[in-house]
Amino acid sequence: MKVTRTVVETRAAVAALPRPLGFVPTMGAIHAGHLALVDAAEASCAATVASLFVNPAQFGEGEDLADYPRDEARDMRVFAQAGVDVVFVPTADDLYPDGFCTQVRIKSLSEHLEGAVRPVHFEGVALIVTKLFNIVRPDLAFFGRKDAQQLAVVRRLARDLDLGVEVIGVPTVREPDGLALSSRNIHLTADERAVAPDLHRALQAGARAAAAPGSVSADVLAAASRALTPAFTIDYLAVVDADTFEQTDHVTERSLLVAAARLGRTRLLDNVRLSPSAYPERDATARKGA
Ligand code: PAF
Repeated sequence: MKVTRTVVETRAAVAALPRPLGFVPTMGAIHAGHLALVDAAEASCAATVASLFVNPAQFGEGEDLADYPRDEARDMRVFAQAGVDVVFVPTADDLYPDGFCTQVRIKSLSEHLEGAVRPVHFEGVALIVTKLFNIVRPDLAFFGRKDAQQLAVVRRLARDLDLGVEVIGVPTVREPDGLALSSRNIHLTADERAVAPDLHRALQAGARAAAAPGSVSADVLAAASRALTPAFTIDYLAVVDADTFEQTDHVTERSLLVAAARLGRTRLLDNVRLSPSAYPERDATARKGA
């Protein structure tokens, strides 16, 4: 496995790789959810590139940039074992040199829900993903469905800017008790870890309500809210269209039930689809969980 640290080095390394080229962008603290992205890339591509960069542009004032878990040496071992061909580990100075002033903004879609709670977040994600796509020039790029709004933002971006990348959504990998894997789970205390799977259980309760004949979004939200323990502080719980992230009164074949909630200092995101077709376009299967 080759490790590159500059844009120039990375362009040279990826130019030598066979096509189709798969790309897995990450912020490190690699877990089985990331490995499902790597597996999906390896299953459909001739070579796989990953990136490891905790992108300051996607963290707002007072968010957990400094606290974000980092262990580059371990991540490199895990990537190497997983068969990744090239890992790009850029520096903020290389990606955002003095004078950098370009923005990439996805209107409307990136302003709802997660975008309303974290106003600079999706601009930062859109910017770094655009830059990474331009540097790595992948044919396919793999993103987790756990961050469903990010997946929708990246799909929109790739389409709107003709980036020539097919964006693939990979199913969420879960602990046996249902908790969605996330690098931030490391911050959960033992007591918080014990109640954390309740978020997924609440979403499942909402999905069961959605399956009842004649049910509307209000019924889904009521069922999910009833099932959620008071330990959580909810940022949002909503029935949305998987493409636009507009909230809808009625459940459709494109509906997701999405939630973000805080447990102590840890913020958990999760979602379930309310119909088997709710995740758009091509999706990959993960090696465990869904
Ligand atoms: O999902 C993430 O880890 C990040 O938002 C991403 C896509 C790597 C961009 O920094």
